[in-house]
Parts: sequence; C-alpha cells; structure tokens
Amino acid sequence: MAGGQGSRLGSSAPKGCYDIGLPSHKSLFQLQAERIARLQEVAEKEAGKPAGSVVVPWYIMTSGPTRKETEAFFNKSKFFGLNPKNVTFFDQGEPGRATADGLSLTANRAGTLPCLTMDGKVLLDSTSRVAEAPDGNGGLYAALRAPISSSDKSRTVLSDLADRKVLYVHAYAVDNCLVKVADPVFIGYCISKQVECAAKVVPKTLPTESVGVFARRGDKFSVVEYSEITKEQAEQRDPRTGELAFRAGNIVNHFYTTTFLQHTEAFEEELAFHIARKKIPHVDLESGQGVKPAKPNGMKLELFVFDVFPFTKHFAVFEVARDEEFSPLKNAPGTGSDDPETSRRDLLSQHRRFLERAGAVVKDGVEIEISPLVTYAGEGLEAVKGKTFTRSGVVSSVEELDVLAA
Ligand code: UTP
Repeated sequence: MAGGQGSRLGSSAPKGCYDIGLPSHKSLFQLQAERIARLQEVAEKEAGKPAGSVVVPWYIMTSGPTRKETEAFFNKSKFFGLNPKNVTFFDQGEPGRATADGLSLTANRAGTLPCLTMDGKVLLDSTSRVAEAPDGNGGLYAALRAPISSSDKSRTVLSDLADRKVLYVHAYAVDNCLVKVADPVFIGYCISKQVECAAKVVPKTLPTESVGVFARRGDKFSVVEYSEITKEQAEQRDPRTGELAFRAGNIVNHFYTTTFLQHTEAFEEELAFHIARKKIPHVDLESGQGVKPAKPNGMKLELFVFDVFPFTKHFAVFEVARDEEFSPLKNAPGTGSDDPETSRRDLLSQHRRFLERAGAVVKDGVEIEISPLVTYAGEGLEAVKGKTFTRSGVVSSVEELDVLAA
C-alpha cells in the first residue's frame, strides 16, 4: 500500500521513495525489493531449484498523487534488480477516473474523493478544481479487480494472481522500514491455521499509545481505533499477566487467501467511510490565494484496509516483536517518534542484533548496515561468528562483512 500522501511526513515525493538517512541512502522501496530478491534466493536454495525460478510477485498500490513518481523512481533505479515483469503498479480505484469522477462517493469509485471543510463543505484546490485526496488504503479491495491499465481492460491484479496461481497474499504499508515482505513464517502460520485473513500485531505497551487494537465486537473481528476506545478499556489489564487487556496493536500487515480477496466485492457496499481530520491545502475563496494550513482544517473520507475484518469467519492474529518488525515512518524529521531518525535507528539496531546473534561483537558506536540481499532475517551470517567489528560501514556481501571485521 503506497498510495498515501504522507501529509504528516511533509515530503512531496511518495513515501516509498523516501531516504531515511541510512549510510547506503536506500529508499524504503529498495529495502523491500532487496528483501524480495533475497527471499526468492533462499527459497530456491531451500527447494533445490535453479536461480531465477522462484518468483515473489510484487503489487504496488499507488494513487493519483503517487503513481507517476513511483513508477519513474522504479524505472530510474532499474527495479532494484528485480524483473520488471514481476512488479505491477496499480491504482486505488479505476485508472483514468480519478479526476473525472471525484465527486461520486459510491458509483464508479474513483480512488480519490473530495476533501471537505470541518462543516462538510467541499474544499477547492484551485479556483476551478475540487481538492481531492486518496480514498484510504481500504481502496485496495476494489482496486484489485479494476483494470491495471486502460489499454487492457481484462488484466487486473486478481486475474494476474490467478494466472500465476498465487494462493496467498501478504499486504503491508510501505512506510515500515522493518517490514518482512512475504514473511514465510507468517504465511506458514496462517496456512497451518487455515484462515482466510490474518494480521500481524505488536504488543501495545502504554494505554495512551495511538495505535488501534484488535478486538471482537460481538462475534466479529475488528480493529478498534485509539479514538474509539474508552480510557477504562485502554487501561484494563489481564489479571493473570498484568499486560494490557487490549494489546494487540495493529501494524497494517496482513495475510489473505486469494480466494478471500476475490470475494470482497460481495460486502464492499457495506463498508463505511471514516473521517480523517488533516491539513488540507486549498484556495482561499475570497482572495484566490493558495493556503497551506499549519493545523488540521478539513476532513478526508477514507476506507480503511481493516474494514473487511468483521466480514471474515476464519481470522488469526500473529504477535511479533516490535523491534524486529515495526518502525513506521509517519512524522516529519525531528519529531522524535515514528520519523526518519527513528526508522534509521531501528533498522541499524536490528542489523547490530543480527551480527550479535550470529556470534560477533560489535563495538559501541559502530554502525553496520547489511544489505537485505545478504540476509532477510539474520540468516546466513555464520561467517561472522567470533569476529569483532570496530568500524562502521555498509556491506552488500558476506565477503564485505569479513573485510569490515578484519
Ligand atoms: P497512513 O494512514 O499512515 O497515511 O497510511 P499516509 O498517507 O502514509 O500519511 P498521512 O496520514 O497523510 O500523514 C498507512 C499506509 O496506507 C497507505 C500509505 O501509503 C501507507 O503505506 N495508504 C494510505 C494508501 O495506500 N492509500 C491511501 O489512500 C492512504
């Protein structure tokens, strides 16, 4: 899911293209692409198959505001070494309808919707154009069955999945630098549980943390947003363990069977839009001047990707360690939480742990960035056992690690 505007981050480029300040200056997209490449290689070795025979297809959901730049970024970077045939860009909503149909809320869902003032009036982007915003990551489901390009109406993400005989799908938010793309452990767990849909969660630690939690509403699975939970519920503890009773924090990291995705259309009309209060640039109607608000001034209407969970029958929640799997990029540099600096810090700390777990010593202050092409989750680092690292650096092979340790 790479269709958001990243308004809190404040960068004009799509979030996936963002450089979180790693020594290698790799973008989030590059980290994810390299994890896919590594996973394909690990799977080939494990199954004794020839190089290039295992493919993890990657489907990147963009929106009107992020499509062009995202595609140009991939072209410029030569798809980070992946075969472009296995990378598909698709838009939220139907291609080509984004502007023309922006005012329609239900019919021909367009991938963008008009932005509203706090009292429900339509905001203008210029004197002749309505201000529009992507309709939320819940636009994913409709987008999967929309034509990928206007030149070939028959090809959709769902048809491509069927053609490739893909049975299981991992979906995640682009802004998590630690995401284990297509995590075989998660997918294996979900297959063993025979669920149609599942979510990775991290333990919520503080009652006040701004994270939605998984809960049952009646007999239905759902995410309860932090704005929807009462203080008492948020603070409630499990008497046996002392942990928060509602602690399964949502990190936008899901498993689906392809069959489930094929059936979402049946209940899509029942999904309701959420109101997101945001800073929305617009034109002042009196002066005609552009306004860039410093605080939230209006509402965007969004479908959330988790809105389908209440419609599932077999659902699983899979708890993972936050420091290994979740460090989202939400806020502008210098904010102090969920910003580029915390992303960088969390990724480099993980690489230090990879080395330490493999039996190496990494001296204080030393920062070693290991390319995902070398290791997906800490595997394959046996060669560093007993070595001491005293110099910082970026490595893209096990041999380079050896040099750095010398
Ligand atoms: P967020 O809700 O955090 O939105 O998206 P955002 O656009 O990244 O940031 P703000 O709220 O404007 O500051 C969570 C994930 O869902 C994707 C984002 O790209 C991110 O990966 N998303 C969001 C979409 O794909 N489409 C959307 O319409 C909104």
